[in-house]
Amino acid sequence: MQLPIAVLVSGSGSNLQAIIDATAADPDYGAAVVIVISDRPGVRGLERAAEAGIPTRVIPWQESADRASFTKAVCDAAEDAGAAALVLAGFMRILTKDAVDRFPNRILNIHPALIPSFPGAHGVRDALAHGVKVTGVTVHFVDEDVDHGPIIAQTAVPVLTGDTEESLHARIQIEEHKLFPEVVKAFAKGRLSVEGNTVVWEGEES
Ligand code: GRF
Repeated sequence: MQLPIAVLVSGSGSNLQAIIDATAADPDYGAAVVIVISDRPGVRGLERAAEAGIPTRVIPWQESADRASFTKAVCDAAEDAGAAALVLAGFMRILTKDAVDRFPNRILNIHPALIPSFPGAHGVRDALAHGVKVTGVTVHFVDEDVDHGPIIAQTAVPVLTGDTEESLHARIQIEEHKLFPEVVKAFAKGRLSVEGNTVVWEGEES
């Protein structure tokens, strides 16, 4: 049984690509991308989906009256495609609590910093500006707050002397592309359970 997932993108979609590649390479992956939804037309993420033969939907942010109607349109599109979960892969819009109510503990997000440090749209830049020596990547379940919710997995990435936002983000993305497909697979296989604010991986002591 494959868990049908909707992947939401706003841009390049390199994390989407990593998930597509993982589903193609692993017959036992346990998840299939049934639709890719973007809030922007013309982005590389949509091309990647089309190249893989995955249906796409563009739901332009500007055409929604408000955040609530945008959230409803996104969730409706995902459900219409048969998706049982939402995977936010560089999706730059904030959904309302309605999405969490419709997909409880079934929305995953990837963030390019070690949550709870440096949430928001500029996680890499903010970590660099703060002068941290270690930052990284977080995959978490989405709750009603931004870049918040039970943490599923994190990978640390050292900040190197002379790093720019671009060089640091490039090294973070290398880790993202390993971590996100692995987490989506574990989720699809039912290996993750949420106990309060803690995610327990099957086989791990809680
Ligand atoms: C990633 O770094 C992700 O952590 C952040 O946005 C970026 C998206 O990259 N939320 P891509 O579109 O997957 O290439």
